[in-house]
Amino acid sequence: MENLPKKIKITEVGPRDGLQNEPENIPTNIKLDFIKGLEAAGLKQIETTSFVSPKWVPQMADSQEVALGTPPKKGMRYIALTPNEKGLDLALSCGLEAIAIFTAASDTFNLKNTNINVEDSLKRFEPLIKRALDLGLWVRGYVSTVIACPYEGQIKPEKVLEVSQRLFDLGIKELSLGDTIGVGTPKQVEALLELILKKIDPNKLAMHFHDTRGTALANVYQSLQMGVSHFDASAGGLGGCPYAKGASGNLATEDLVYFLDQMGLESGVNLEKLAKASAKIAKLLHRPLPSKVWRTLIKNF
Ligand code: HMG
Ligand code: MG
Repeated sequence: MENLPKKIKITEVGPRDGLQNEPENIPTNIKLDFIKGLEAAGLKQIETTSFVSPKWVPQMADSQEVALGTPPKKGMRYIALTPNEKGLDLALSCGLEAIAIFTAASDTFNLKNTNINVEDSLKRFEPLIKRALDLGLWVRGYVSTVIACPYEGQIKPEKVLEVSQRLFDLGIKELSLGDTIGVGTPKQVEALLELILKKIDPNKLAMHFHDTRGTALANVYQSLQMGVSHFDASAGGLGGCPYAKGASGNLATEDLVYFLDQMGLESGVNLEKLAKASAKIAKLLHRPLPSKVWRTLIKNF
């Protein structure tokens, strides 16, 4: 336990990954208020929205309003997903300074998610990332289905490494590895990271666990023991990918922050303020959120 990294970085994905699967239209002002609350809780890197087709992900149809409502700010990094040049154009028109591109370690998932296979997605990203970097933007890259694909089954760590290295070759500054459908356990995470960390700097790596089967925190602990200090999480445990059957919410930020606090690891996030920010979304959705820690904090919901 002595050797665990002491300072932990959290990328908050609630406003994007958390909300993208919600069928009920969430008004833009509520989303902006949510982001404000997350920021007030101490989160410094927030994925605010995605510039994707509103036909594919209707909840993100107000991406321009959300991005315009969260202009660049010192000390904050607001990120939006941009799957193609059109997404980048829209992000630029709203003044975004940080974007994320996303692909996968399995073709079938990538086709279902973005209508393109992995190889073609990398070809599509080449000019997109170059243009973004030339304009001074910061670029994150996602690889999904790093443990298993809902359509193809188990994924080999070698495939994840190959796609990840190609993204770094294209110029991404940070890599997020997604267990999109939350099937991983520490054993698989260990096998994956053993290979990944031979080639990739842990300071450029974030782990993105979905908590579908309740294994996300165990996977965080495994990653911490291997020197990873950056995790994606979603306030309240909201979320899921509309194109990955069975993907439920991300690891809840409240569950992660409680765990880190109690382990003496610093995240800089205030748990009570965070739970209050999530509570506003719960109120709108008329249901308690999945996070166990959130439920202990927001008693009168
Ligand atoms: P396509 O149908 O191949 O695109 O979709 P197209 O270029 O043929 O265009 C079709 C229509 O979409 C056109 O409109 C375009 O203008 C429009 P129409 O003429 O029919 O009215 N369009 C766009 N509109 C807004 N913004 C854009 C855009 N691009 C085209 N950027 C596309 C390709 C990528 C657009 C589509 O498949 C898509 O939007 N997919 C998004 C899927 C998505 O958002 N999934 C969830 C995020 S990924 C995730 O959750 C995983 C992650 O959390 C990590 C993990 O958990 O593993 C990151
Ligand atoms: Mg996700």
